[in-house]
Amino acid sequence: DSLEDINTDLVTLPRYIIETQQSIKGAKGDFTLVLNALGFAFKFISQTIRKAELINLVGITGNTNSTGDQQKKLDVLGDEIFINAMSASGIVKLVVSEEQENMIVFHNNDAKYAICCDPIDGSSNLDAGVSVGTICSIFRLLPGSTGSTADVLRQGTEMVGACYAMYGASTHLLLTLGNGVSGFTLDNTLGEFILVHPELKLPSQRSIYSINEGNSYYWDKEIVEFIETLKQPQSQDGKPYSARYIGSMVADLHRTFLYGGLFAYPSDKRNPHGKLRLLYEAFPMAMLVEQAGGKAVNDQGKRILDLCPSHIHDKSSVWMGSNDDVDKYLKYVGKL
Ligand code: AHG
Ligand code: MN
Ligand code: MN
Ligand code: MN
Repeated sequence: DSLEDINTDLVTLPRYIIETQQSIKGAKGDFTLVLNALGFAFKFISQTIRKAELINLVGITGNTNSTGDQQKKLDVLGDEIFINAMSASGIVKLVVSEEQENMIVFHNNDAKYAICCDPIDGSSNLDAGVSVGTICSIFRLLPGSTGSTADVLRQGTEMVGACYAMYGASTHLLLTLGNGVSGFTLDNTLGEFILVHPELKLPSQRSIYSINEGNSYYWDKEIVEFIETLKQPQSQDGKPYSARYIGSMVADLHRTFLYGGLFAYPSDKRNPHGKLRLLYEAFPMAMLVEQAGGKAVNDQGKRILDLCPSHIHDKSSVWMGSNDDVDKYLKYVGKL
């Protein structure tokens, strides 16, 4: 083992932010504060999850949130950590959170950003020690706005950034500011996110599908039939697709970013608009997927980022991942 293998010039998240500041759409120095606050929230949530079982933080609160999910103790704590970090940044005017019925507006007069977040994604997996994450979309307030739902009830194309942290064997952070995707891994001893994938690109094809097939009884016939075709030997390699489903969007998509494949949560008879929520699940993931060279559409083949929510907790069906695998779906349903 030679000394040359040790990188002594690490690109930390704060360094990355300073160095890329100029290339951010419409950003001034204040964007640094947003990303610093996000980085802090991710580190805080990460550490809290890692000791949860030991300090009686597993289990449910007994309440449900506005989209009908049972709240875990960590959903509530993660939400609190996130909101406090955004408030303290001084630069975030409002937060939309999965765990809050209404948008939260802070009294920061000079604040210019709106953040929508899923504080803990995959929380049903928490008590089993399976990977979960935090997902965020970032908007700049509309000109002259003092903070209203109009600042976030916009097309996904108007986001200035999106990111997620995944709390797995390591804590990973994927970030886009509209100019590609950068991947970081948390160095726990330094307490810093270190840049490990400067320009992360999604593989253009991989025979993996990721969907909750337990819902297939309620799916449209066309979707059932399409998934059946994936189980037949494929023209590209003579093999059927493999099935992988973790049940945390963050973890299923993190695998998709690195290995490729298709992730979907379609609508069904019980969930006519799918399950995943636009502002803090579908939008930020769609932006990251597109920025990594992939595709993100809904059941009807419409681009996710062109959708526009009319309520902060609106949902959408999603099909996202490798370009060729999403195209396979689009072709099957006659939308390509
Ligand atoms: P959350 O834990 O933030 O409520 O999100 C749950 C989502 C998402 O993480 C995952 O892809 C999906 O729900 C799993 O749903 P099913 O259990 O219905 O498959
Ligand atoms: Mn939930
Ligand atoms: Mn979620
Ligand atoms: Mn959640």
